[in-house]
Amino acid sequence: MKFARRDFLKKAGLATTMGMFHGIVSCKDNSAPQKASMYNGPEASAEDIRANFELDPEYIHMAGMLLASHPKSVKKSIEKYREALNRNPAKYILENKDSLFTLVSESAAKYMEVKPEEIALTDSTTMGTALLINGLHIRTDQEMLTADYDYYSTHRSIDFKVRSSGASSREIAIYGDIHKVSEEEIIDKVIREIKPSTRLVTGTWVHSATGLKIPVKKIAEHIAAINANRSNEDRVLFFVDGVHGFGVENQSVGDLGCDFFSAGTHKWMYGPRGTGVLWGNSRVHGEVSPTIPTFTYGTGWGGEMTPGGYKPFEHQWTVANAFHFHMKMGKEYVQDHIHSLARQLKESLAKMSHITLLTPMEENLSSGIVCFSVNGMTPEAVVNKLTEKKIIASKTPYRPSYPRLSPGIYNTSDEMEKVLRAIRTLG
Ligand SMILES: Cc1ncc(COP(=O)(O)O)c(C=O)c1O
Repeated sequence: MKFARRDFLKKAGLATTMGMFHGIVSCKDNSAPQKASMYNGPEASAEDIRANFELDPEYIHMAGMLLASHPKSVKKSIEKYREALNRNPAKYILENKDSLFTLVSESAAKYMEVKPEEIALTDSTTMGTALLINGLHIRTDQEMLTADYDYYSTHRSIDFKVRSSGASSREIAIYGDIHKVSEEEIIDKVIREIKPSTRLVTGTWVHSATGLKIPVKKIAEHIAAINANRSNEDRVLFFVDGVHGFGVENQSVGDLGCDFFSAGTHKWMYGPRGTGVLWGNSRVHGEVSPTIPTFTYGTGWGGEMTPGGYKPFEHQWTVANAFHFHMKMGKEYVQDHIHSLARQLKESLAKMSHITLLTPMEENLSSGIVCFSVNGMTPEAVVNKLTEKKIIASKTPYRPSYPRLSPGIYNTSDEMEKVLRAIRTLG
C-alpha cells in the first residue's frame, strides 16, 4: 500500500526526495522554521527516505541505536541556524530564542501527543533521567525501585540520589528467563515488589541489553490502581527511559500512562546530536524540582526543567525538524518498517543452529533491537567479523554482553538478507 501511494506521488511529480523532506523552513529571516504543518502519514518510499541520509554506502548500518546519522533536512536546518548565529549571535538569539523554543516544544508535543508545557528540552536521555531523579521529592523513609537491566544512567542517578537524599533503593529482576518472558511475568514481578514506602519505579521501554520491550502502559495501569489510595507525597511515580522505543513505536507518549519519560532525540528520532526531551505528566509536576537554572521562563514545567546556559542552539532548535521528518513518514510506517526488518532478522537467526536469539519474537515484547549470540565467538569477535564484511553492528555494554543489530528507517530488506548471509558464515 505504501508503494501504491509512492507510485501515485511519483506520477503526480510530488515525490522528489528533497521536496518531501525539506520540512520546516523560514520564519523571521529564512533561518528559522515555521510551525510544522503537515502531519499526515507516509509520503515516501524506503528509497526516498534512504536518500535523505548521507550514510557511507560502503557499509550496512545496523548500529543507529547508539548515535544516529541525521537526514538532510536536519543537517540543512543546523547549518542555517549556525550561519545565522555566526553572522549575528546576540541579535539572532534575542529575536528568535523564545519562538524557537516554543516551536520545538510544540513539535515534540504534537509527536508525543502531550502538552508543550509538559516537555523539557535536554541534551540526552541521560540528562533527562538525571534531572528527574535528582529533582525528585523523596523522604528518607522512602525507596526507589529499579530493574536490573535498566540503563546505567538510571542506576547511577539513583545511586547519587540515595547519597544526597538519604532515601534507599532496591534493584529487582523483572523476568526470569528471557526465552520464556511474558508481559504478565514482568507486570507481576514489578507490581508485587511495590511497597508502601516505594516512591519511584523505573522502567526501560526497550532494553538495550536484550531488545526486550516492557509493557509500560499495563504496568502504569497497575501503578495507578495502587496510587488510588495514596496521598501525593506517598504516590508511586513511574519513570520510563523511553529512548529505544521513541521514534520506533507507533505509540502516543501521553497514552503510555507513566509519569515521566526521558528520551534522546539523537538515536531513533534522527535528530541533532546532543538533544533530547524529558516529559512530565501535569498531574505530578509538583513532585519534582529543577536542578539546573533555566533560561526559558514562562513556559510552564517544561520550561523550568529545561537546563539553561548558552548552548549549541542550532542543534536544539533543529529538533523540530526531526519530529517533522518522522511525522512526514508517519508513525505507523516507521513502526511497520523497523519491526518488519527486525522480524526478518529474528526469524532467520532463530533457525540458525550456531545462533542463540535473545530478543523475544513477539511484537508486544520487542521493538527494533535484535540481540543474539554466536556459538564459540565473543561479541567483540562477531562485531569485528561483521565490520570486515562491511556491516556495522554493536555489542551490548552489559554482563553478559551480546552482539546487537538495530535496523533503522534507512535500511532495506535486501540489506537484512546480506546481514543474515554474513552471520550464517560465522558458524
Ligand atoms: C536504555 C538506554 N538509555 C539511555 C542511553 C543513553 O542515551 P543518551 O545518549 O541519549 O543519554 C542508552 C544508550 O544507548 C540506552 O541504551
